[in-house]
Amino acid sequence: MFPSPSDPNVPDNNQKTFLVFGATGRTGQHFVSLALSQGHRVRAVARTPGKLALAHPDLDVRYGLIPDVADLDALLAGVDFVVSMLGDARLQKDRMVNTEFVRHLVPAMRRQGVTRLLYQAGGLSRTPDERLSPFLWFIRKTLARSYDGQHRDNEAVMTYLAEGAGDISWVVHRAGIGSNGPSKGVLHRSGRTSLATFQDCANYNLRTVMDPTTVHTFDLSTYKKS
Ligand SMILES: NC(=O)c1ccc[n+]([C@@H]2O[C@H](COP(=O)([O-])OP(=O)(O)OC[C@H]3O[C@@H](n4cnc5c(N)ncnc54)[C@H](OP(=O)(O)O)[C@@H]3O)[C@@H](O)[C@H]2O)c1
Repeated sequence: MFPSPSDPNVPDNNQKTFLVFGATGRTGQHFVSLALSQGHRVRAVARTPGKLALAHPDLDVRYGLIPDVADLDALLAGVDFVVSMLGDARLQKDRMVNTEFVRHLVPAMRRQGVTRLLYQAGGLSRTPDERLSPFLWFIRKTLARSYDGQHRDNEAVMTYLAEGAGDISWVVHRAGIGSNGPSKGVLHRSGRTSLATFQDCANYNLRTVMDPTTVHTFDLSTYKKS
């Protein structure tokens, strides 16, 4: 007799393990809920674990402070996908903490044989080989100027990935986020950006990190008209 697919003793080949940085953030919390709801395992790294008000048998919450996360190798053991939705705009004004962190993360991924990484940057962060349009540059330097350090940090991460991590299957999502409201639709990879919700960005991140066609891309995301 064949065991039923729901038999807990039968490994589920579709169940993946995600190591999530920024799990208590606005995108991160949606990401964790969504991954769990789709049957995956989540190892969530948080500097304030109590902010993740979620209990689930497939959720493992660990303390970690970037950039010097203790024992990254142990966190990466058995992981299929790494997702970073980190940000601290105040700290990033003066210090490129995300870049420092990713420079620790990538060698640890190599040591542990973990190859897939999604890093969420912003729609106002430019890629290493393209300028922002004059309009977006204006927005960045005026309305969004308090996030300038965060964008500079994101840009340094992208440069490091492009120049120093070609052996890692990274993807960068340059998200444009306007609100924490309900879903406005499904985001797709694009050269243009929509003002999306955190929930839709989390959904996009989950699909995108598992999609092999996204490797080594820095796409923006937009809602497709139905
Ligand atoms: N917010 C936007 O409108 C927007 C738009 C476009 C792109 N983005 C990009 O997306 C990224 C994530 O954005 P978000 O708004 O979802 O982030 P967020 O709500 O600000 O959350 C950031 C996450 O990073 C964690 N974190 C910050 N510093 C840390 C440290 N030193 N050690 C450990 N964890 C740390 C935070 O932990 P705590 O919960 O403990 O603070 C939180 O979990 C940003 O970096 C930004 O580049 C954001």
